[in-house]
Amino acid sequence: MKADNLHVAIIMDGNGRWATERGLPRIAGHRAGVQSVRSVVEAAPQMGISVLTLYAFSEDNWSRPRREVMALFGLLRRYLMLEAKAAAGQGVRIQAIGRRDRLPASLSAALGEAEELTGHGTRLHLRIALDYSSRGALIDAARRLASPLTRESLSQALGPDVDLLIRTSGEQRLSDFLLWECAYAEFHFTARKWPEFGTQELSAALNEFRHRDRRFGGLALKLA
Ligand code: IPE
Ligand code: IPE
Ligand code: MG
Repeated sequence: MKADNLHVAIIMDGNGRWATERGLPRIAGHRAGVQSVRSVVEAAPQMGISVLTLYAFSEDNWSRPRREVMALFGLLRRYLMLEAKAAAGQGVRIQAIGRRDRLPASLSAALGEAEELTGHGTRLHLRIALDYSSRGALIDAARRLASPLTRESLSQALGPDVDLLIRTSGEQRLSDFLLWECAYAEFHFTARKWPEFGTQELSAALNEFRHRDRRFGGLALKLA
């Protein structure tokens, strides 16, 4: 498969509905969703993806019942503790984006450890958006900039532009995710819920993406 250093960002949505449809508690959907994360992370480097940003918990998700929030954090912590070593072995660099100061200490410790253990990875940069708000990230980055505020300096502070944005579960919105970075992103919306998303769906989304004509304001390739 073509190695083309893509930045793919995924809004992993629909865990709750997946579970409810099956008569299960919502957290069972989040648990099932972890398996999809594993599959996607494992397959990404062979598919030409060099940066993968996963939306795991939004700032607005704090408005959910505390029990669900804590269960989600528990799953994330377990994922990090179980996967960090393997990730390091596979050249995957794990990094969290979003706020750290409101996370439970055990989760921020697990994040710090995973980041340290995997810091040298160069095959895949896995960014996990946690307690994340794109508007918040924009304000923070602009405030912290030492250099003058330009498109380049802000992009540098935030991270790479998104090539392909995927959202599962049939919703078609950004929910405060990577607003700046998605300026020229291609969008792929699928009705599949996140626990039903795996390597095949990722591969199909990328195939479709590769047939898109990204014009960036210019003319279609065949007209240029
Ligand atoms: C996505 O699934 C995971 C998180 C937001 C943490 P949801 O929990 O939003 O599932 P639905 O949208 O309620 O089905
Ligand atoms: C976005 O999903 C956040 C994550 C996937 C982590 P939500 O389910 O929270 O978004 P809305 O409420 O449908 O916009
Ligand atoms: Mg949702």
